Amino acid sequence: MATLVADVDMPEVGLGGDEGEDERREALIGLAERNWIARTPLGYVITRHADVTAMLRDKRWFSAIGLIAQMQGVDDPEWNRRSGQNILGMEGDEHQRLRRLVGPAFTPKAAERLRPFMAEVIDELLNPLCARGHGDFVTEVCEPYPIPIICELLGAPRDDWELFSRLATDIFRVFNGNLARDLHTIMAAQDEMGAYMSKLIAERRAEPRDDLLSDLIAAEEEGDRLTTEEMQSLANAVLLAGTDTTRNQLACAVELFARCGDQLRLLRDEPSLAPLAAEEVMRHFGAIRGTARYASQNLVYRDIEFPASTLIFPSFTAANHDETQFDQPLRFDITRRSSAPHMTFGSGIHYCLGAFLARAELQEALKAVAKRMPDLRLDGDVEWKPVSNGIWGPSTLPIRFTPGH
Ligand code: HEM
Repeated sequence: MATLVADVDMPEVGLGGDEGEDERREALIGLAERNWIARTPLGYVITRHADVTAMLRDKRWFSAIGLIAQMQGVDDPEWNRRSGQNILGMEGDEHQRLRRLVGPAFTPKAAERLRPFMAEVIDELLNPLCARGHGDFVTEVCEPYPIPIICELLGAPRDDWELFSRLATDIFRVFNGNLARDLHTIMAAQDEMGAYMSKLIAERRAEPRDDLLSDLIAAEEEGDRLTTEEMQSLANAVLLAGTDTTRNQLACAVELFARCGDQLRLLRDEPSLAPLAAEEVMRHFGAIRGTARYASQNLVYRDIEFPASTLIFPSFTAANHDETQFDQPLRFDITRRSSAPHMTFGSGIHYCLGAFLARAELQEALKAVAKRMPDLRLDGDVEWKPVSNGIWGPSTLPIRFTPGH
């Protein structure tokens, strides 16, 4: 007979306060050593790699992204309708159908197609910084880096990079914790993006090219096709899921390399280590530290009953430092080869659709940084985004190095 989760004796933790990342990480790792689950005021943190994986793979735990509005007391029918079309919040057959149709457009081959473009973009962004030898890596490089790549992916021309950057900023307000205030700005940006995309979709229908949109238009399985509205929603999701993630992950990576010069030199001497380096950065210092799910029905796991609607927070940070999976987990080692995957792209049905693309973006950027900033170091205090940010990283990253590379 399973025990109700509320009656289970387990550690209790807060929601995180002003402590630094090192303390927070140590606290989570300590927690994982004590127990696989801990109570918070909102739900339950899941701390170990095996449990995080198992619970994310269980399709009866639904994505909690759709609860953001409800938890902030916002009940707008149009917002609810749009949220229902967001792949991140879809479940069951509907989600499976969409993944089946869009999956083939997000293959390693599709990411490889963009690699030369990524290398070009990062080099262009690094040029002024490398001539000077110092500056803020976040504003000069991380902020602008993902936009041209998403534009190129969708087939939008260079003239529209500014527009995408503005729309991404507005659409991103969804994570600012004040949906009631921002709802109309967000929906207006979504509408603008939708109108833009429908024009682009019409152009690609008439004249297909070698880009994601043409692939999506061509995507068909057993007579099933994506509608224009589905493609518009997907473009919104890609803008939402593919920009701030990449820029924060790159900023976390560069902060880490600036503190670990030996690893940076290793990468400079052996650029073929870039794929391993990107994985290790994401394991050791992931920009997404966890996700949230709710029980779609009464569920039993490890002899514990979770009533319907129970919230859980699978912790990627804790799982990524699980010593049963990663030898000496606190060591940052870009030559590490472990059989377990890191959790920073998630797991299960919502596993990051853009993972191949994100990997290629990080690899190209890290190779360029190692080559052009060989003695990279921090140049003052790093400021960090608030702990409550779902996607987290430095807000300013002052760096210094010998210029001219
Ligand atoms: C380093 C960069 C990135 C990280 C760390 C990251 C991480 C994640 C994670 C953890 C999820 C699953 C969320 C959950 O289960 O609750 C996810 C989903 C997703 N990601 Fe990424 N992502 C990154 C870059 C990208 C890029 C570049 C794109 C697109 C071009 C993208 C598109 C998506 C989409 C569409 C989903 C939703 C998939 C679904 O719900 O089926 N991501 N990502």
